[in-house]
Amino acid sequence: MKLPHHLTIKNGHLHINGHDCVALAQQYGTPLYVTSEDRVCEQFESYKKALTSRYPKVRILFAAKANGNLAVMRALARLGAGADVFSSGELHLALDAGIPAEKLLFNGSSKTPGDLNLAVGKNVKVSVDSLDELHQLDAAAKAAGKTAKISFRVNPALKVPTHPKIATGLATSKFGIPHKEIPAAYREAMSCKNLQPVGIHCHIGSQILDIGPFVKAAEVMVRIAKELTDMGIKLEFIDLGGGLGIPYHHDTDPAPTPEDYAANVVPVFKAGIEACGITPELWVEPGRSLVADSTVLLTRVNSTKSAHKRFANVDAGFNLLIRPAMYDAYHEVIVANNADAPLTTEYTITGPICETGDILAADRKLPQIAAGDIIAVLDTGAYGYAMSSQYNCRPRCPEVLIRGTQGSLMRRGENTGDITATMQYPPWQR
Ligand code: LLP
Repeated sequence: MKLPHHLTIKNGHLHINGHDCVALAQQYGTPLYVTSEDRVCEQFESYKKALTSRYPKVRILFAAKANGNLAVMRALARLGAGADVFSSGELHLALDAGIPAEKLLFNGSSKTPGDLNLAVGKNVKVSVDSLDELHQLDAAAKAAGKTAKISFRVNPALKVPTHPKIATGLATSKFGIPHKEIPAAYREAMSCKNLQPVGIHCHIGSQILDIGPFVKAAEVMVRIAKELTDMGIKLEFIDLGGGLGIPYHHDTDPAPTPEDYAANVVPVFKAGIEACGITPELWVEPGRSLVADSTVLLTRVNSTKSAHKRFANVDAGFNLLIRPAMYDAYHEVIVANNADAPLTTEYTITGPICETGDILAADRKLPQIAAGDIIAVLDTGAYGYAMSSQYNCRPRCPEVLIRGTQGSLMRRGENTGDITATMQYPPWQR
């Protein structure tokens, strides 16, 4: 199997950035998420280089929903990243990790009054999703005696080749304002005394491996930018969203790079803004492509069984990685302690959750597996821990960050006390 260069096999063991995954599993226990900070930084730098070499005014906003660990966000903050935040919680995380408020965009299709007040209070720009929200934000800004800077989330009505649950820019999706109604929405915004429209924003979907849809989205966005400029709006930024996919099937998926993205999208952007006679910042909001392949989920085999097929029952399930169960997502798996052995036997890797759908990987050719083996599930840095749960009363596992030769916990594992800590018996049961 093709591996990215931070994953190597030495003495039969899988290594991440030179750290032996088997030793990490022994040291910290399993299940365990292990993230390479070096890899996250490398991906960020390749976005930065690809975009800024073509257009100088670029901002890369990390989509915090993909991986909300403070240490991951701090690594990106130190490289100058901003963040797309989708809740008050993500906004607090981003500020805590050291991302300044002016580098944040508060997205979301269902913001609470508390969300809007927080954005106004912290001077965070808001991508507005409806006219109802627009007027609520105007009132919040008025009450705070401030002017809030906004963009609208454009629904560009684009079909994209991805799982239907993560195609966000379809005409039928819940996100944004239909692109044809966008000029009227900005007119409305211009009449709001406490709001200043300064940008436009879209996001067409996630795990997109074809650059074509991103080019189409850029075309729609610069066309709208022209209309808005003609209306007298001074656009400070055009945010093209995230969505670049990664090759989860290492040997067969296309592997579009930030360079491919920039080489195709930036020329459309530049031609478009030239036609408008403006030089706004170009914003992008990658999540998955920055962090997915930085991380392995290490899980121990509890038992094996031959029934209608061979099962390897491991200690991580959809409580820790829901992508296979939720989107039929494919993640490569490697027997970390026997990583260069011949792939002789077909296994289905199943988790400990009491559901038939708790399958991490189905029908994979692997070396012979025995209890105690460590399975590495690859490409789990995006929407992995971030979407985890405590289902079946399973405490969430720790997360380790490695950088160079160093390694450290970046989140301790939970215990059952953590699970019950927020519960209480009602008075009549005490
Ligand atoms: N910006 C906005 C407004 C978004 O809604 C998203 C993702 C992103 C940026 C980042 O997109 P990315 O570069 O990561 O594709 N849980 C799903 C993915 C859901 C994505 C939702 N929005 C999964 O595990 O595949």
